[in-house]
Amino acid sequence: MLDKSLLKKISKRKTIYPNQFTGKKIPKKTIEKLLNVANTAPSHKLTQPWLFKVFSGPSKYDLAQNVYHLNKKKKFEVILNKFNLSSHIICICIRKSNKIPYWEEIAATAMAIQNIWISLVGSKNIGGYWSSPKNIEQLADFLKLKKNEECLGLFYLGEYNIVKDRKIIRKNIEDDIEWYD
Ligand SMILES: Cc1cc2nc3c(=O)[nH]c(=O)nc-3n(C[C@H](O)[C@H](O)[C@H](O)COP(=O)(O)O)c2cc1C
Repeated sequence: MLDKSLLKKISKRKTIYPNQFTGKKIPKKTIEKLLNVANTAPSHKLTQPWLFKVFSGPSKYDLAQNVYHLNKKKKFEVILNKFNLSSHIICICIRKSNKIPYWEEIAATAMAIQNIWISLVGSKNIGGYWSSPKNIEQLADFLKLKKNEECLGLFYLGEYNIVKDRKIIRKNIEDDIEWYD
């Protein structure tokens, strides 16, 4: 039997954008719990390819500067404001094992982040936002990534009070299913 309340919770997962964060710092213990649940994601051959570089406090400024240099079309003040309003920013990195196809490592890492994202539903005051800035691969030196490691994106975490409702109209799933009985 499916757990209807769990299905409902999963469907409530949503993006909370950093401009809705309060700037308050989330306790490290909470972030550790989220990273632990990320670690339960499946991976082929159990390669557990994710590598999380987590920025909070003053280190966010250095990261903001490096993100600004990726694409100077965005104003530094705008980026810094997003970073200041966020509690933690996780650089979503991946360690290629070369044991399985790379896409499987990416899929597993995305599942790890999805675990975090879904876990936030119950919190009611912690939100998450996945961003994939242009030229993110250029963060490699700053993040001290090794040759077999790559940064895929940023996951912003922050506390929020009230969130403006965003109407998202999704495709009908029936359009994307073919049944073979
Ligand atoms: C892999 C991935 C990359 C994303 N990159 C961006 C991004 O660069 N900028 C952005 O505004 N949203 C980004 N998003 C968030 C999506 O825009 C968001 O999930 C989508 O609009 C659906 O909204 P929801 O998360 O509230 O359901 C990304 C999401 C995923 C899964």
